[in-house]
Amino acid sequence: MDAPVEVALIARAVAILRDGGLVAFPTETVYGLGADASDPAAVARIFAAKGRPADHPLIVHLASADDIDAWAVDVPPLARVLAAACWPGPLTMVLRRAARVPDAVTGGLPTVGLRVPDHPVALALLRAFGGGIAAPSANRFGQVSPTTADHVRSGLGDAVDLVLDGGASAVGVESTIVDLSGDVPAILRPGGVSRETLERLAGRALPVRGTVEDAGGVRAPGMLASHYAPDARLLLVPVAEQAARAASLRERGLVVGVLSFRGEGWSADDTRVMDARLVDLGASEEEAAHGLYAAIHELDETCDVILAWPPEETGLGLAIADRLRRAAG
Ligand code: TXA
Ligand code: MG
Repeated sequence: MDAPVEVALIARAVAILRDGGLVAFPTETVYGLGADASDPAAVARIFAAKGRPADHPLIVHLASADDIDAWAVDVPPLARVLAAACWPGPLTMVLRRAARVPDAVTGGLPTVGLRVPDHPVALALLRAFGGGIAAPSANRFGQVSPTTADHVRSGLGDAVDLVLDGGASAVGVESTIVDLSGDVPAILRPGGVSRETLERLAGRALPVRGTVEDAGGVRAPGMLASHYAPDARLLLVPVAEQAARAASLRERGLVVGVLSFRGEGWSADDTRVMDARLVDLGASEEEAAHGLYAAIHELDETCDVILAWPPEETGLGLAIADRLRRAAG
C-alpha cells in the first residue's frame, strides 16, 4: 500500500468511526473490531457483530500513554512504569475507570482495560481519530482470533463496515492483561508480553489468575474454558502418543491434523503414513505464537481433529499453552 492510499483509507475509517460504524484494524497481536469507545450505540454494534454477551468488557485502545488519565483514575506508579516500558505493545492494563467511560465498554465494571497497540496502521488510525477505540478481537464470540484481514472477512463478513489490511499480525497472540486496579497486581491473561518481563519490571511476582472464580467473579470471555475454539476438535495428546492416536482416529474415518513445536515427534514420513496434516510452528516461541492462530484456522478448514501438546510455559510459551488449553475446552 503506498502512502496516499493509506491516508485516504485512514480518513475513511475515521469517518466510519465518527458515524458510529465498525472498523476492523490490524494490531501486532490480533486484528481488532473497533468502534468509538465514547459512543455506547457504536459499542453495542460490536457486541451484535461478534455475538458476544453485553456484560463482557472491551479493551480501549489509545494512541499514546499520555491518554491514560483521560480514561482511568487512581493510576498507580506501576502502571506508568509498565506503560513506559511496554507501550506501544502487547500489554493491556486494567485500571479504575474514569467517569466518562461508558458502561457499554466496561460491562458495568468499575475498571477499564487500556492498551496502546504497536502497529503503524492502528496507531495512524488512533491518531487520526483522536479518541479511544474500543476493540475486542475481530472474531465471532468463542472462535479463534484473526491474525490476517482474510480471517476477519471470513469470520465477520458484512458485519464490519471496513477492514484495514495491515498484513499478518507479528506477535500472533493477544495482549497480556495485567490487573492494576486492586491492591495486588495480577496477570488476568497471559499474552504477548511475557510474565518474566512483567515481573522484572514490577520487581515482584505476579500471580496468573486463570479462572473466573479467582479473578473475583469478573466475567472475562478470555477466561472461559471453551474460548478460542476451532470447529474441529482440538485434543491435547503428549507428543510420544500422537502417532498412535492419529492412526486410531484415522481408522474411524477422521481427518487428523497435528500442530507441533520445533518438529517434535513428527517426521514427514509419519504424516504421509498417517495421512495427517502437519503444521510445525517453528523453532522459537515467538515464531510459534506468530503462526499459532493461522495454523489452527488452516487445519480447521480440512481436519476433523487437531492434535497438539502445549509447549513449555516460559516466555510466550505460557500464552501459547493457555490458548491451546482453552481451545481444547
Ligand atoms: O491483543 C488484544 O488484547 C486484542 C487486540 C485487538 O487489542 N484484543 C482482545 O480483546 O483480545 P478481547 O475482547 O478479545 O479480549 C479482551 C479481554 C477479555 O477477556 C475481557 O474480558 C478482558 O480483556 N477485559 C477487558 N476489560 C477488562 C476489565 N476491565 N477487567 C477485566 N478484564 C477485562
Ligand atoms: Mg477475543
